Amino acid sequence: MAKLEFPKGFFWGAATASHQVEGDTQNQWSKWEVSRGRLAQLEHDGLIAKYGKENFISGAAADHYHRYEEDFRLAKEYGHLATRISIEWSRVEPQAGYFDPVAIEHYREVIASIRKNGMEPFVTIWHWTFPIWFRDMGGFAIRKNTEYFARFAEKMVRDLTDVKFWITLNEPEIYAKNSYSRGVWPPQENSWLAALKVYYNLIHAHRLSYKKIKDVSPSAQIGIAKNNAYFKVCKNQLQNVITKNFLDWSWNFHFLNKLSGTQDFIGLNHYFHNRIGRQTHQNENFKTSDMGWELYPEAIYHVLKDLKKYKLPIYITENGLANAEDKQRAWFIKETLRNAHRAISEGVDVRGYFHWSLTDNFEWDKGFWPRFGLIAIDYRTQKRTPRPSAIVYKDICQNNGFEQ
Ligand code: FCB
Repeated sequence: MAKLEFPKGFFWGAATASHQVEGDTQNQWSKWEVSRGRLAQLEHDGLIAKYGKENFISGAAADHYHRYEEDFRLAKEYGHLATRISIEWSRVEPQAGYFDPVAIEHYREVIASIRKNGMEPFVTIWHWTFPIWFRDMGGFAIRKNTEYFARFAEKMVRDLTDVKFWITLNEPEIYAKNSYSRGVWPPQENSWLAALKVYYNLIHAHRLSYKKIKDVSPSAQIGIAKNNAYFKVCKNQLQNVITKNFLDWSWNFHFLNKLSGTQDFIGLNHYFHNRIGRQTHQNENFKTSDMGWELYPEAIYHVLKDLKKYKLPIYITENGLANAEDKQRAWFIKETLRNAHRAISEGVDVRGYFHWSLTDNFEWDKGFWPRFGLIAIDYRTQKRTPRPSAIVYKDICQNNGFEQ
């Protein structure tokens, strides 16, 4: 049996995001969850009858705000060498220009706890949620507001000195699309023009904060977490090839191209593969997750190969699946890693893998039912129970690879 050995110093870990795990957040998203319009819509769509109202309200979530020490202890026990978290902007800056020292101290302790458990913290500055005052000022739809974001980013880097790896933005293009064009996330706009504006403002927000962060901390390593997909031509016709090239450019590369010179690494969030035939979503769906997302681990090989041209280190900042019964997770992790390894052996500089997610959490508009965690959470008791796949992953982390 040959061993798939990963590069020395590879960061093995898992990821979470503040709104999805912390609990009791007071941001634009938590307000939206309980708004009359949102609840009426869920009722109308029969989703309250199907899942119950509590499914859609983040509430106490996984209570990670109070239980982070237990979560990091478990991560360490299960072999992790790194952990990705995000800062909840609405806690740190509850009013414009007022930074709450208690909240900042909390995140200092969170970082200290990650370090104490021997793990490298990767910290996301913005994972889709923000303070109400920022929403009321128009959020990222207003170009000038990017300065507030950069001020917040700079403050975090000044105050959390024990962090080396910073992710300014999580999946900016997904946010722009779902919140402003598809209208399924707050503020539920349906305008592709608005989405485009937000998209370009997020590019600006990154560039601005990159400069500010580097001024404060020249050694900081800064990137974004970018959701790239593998577009595969399944019928080799000219129009499909053109579609693929267009999608690659617009979905995978354009944002990154615009950040040229302002990234020290690329964070890759990877979940999707789309076959392009008569439609762009002609997937075979031989295997799917609980959410119906196709499980196609080979895709990551192509996505990684396509990122090689940027000549930057790559960290896989998210990859995972909703799988409550945990029947597919271990298989999926191994197959994904096998394909990532293939890219590495062909010269792609991949330096880490963060599974989504460390624990079960609140999956945005879908709510609590999708179970993404290596560690299961019983939301009635907040009891943590590692799933069997967490043991398989532990082995991989501890051996820096696996026998195949
Ligand atoms: C990604 C998000 C993350 C999580 C996973 C399933 O797009 O960044 O917060 O919801 O999907």
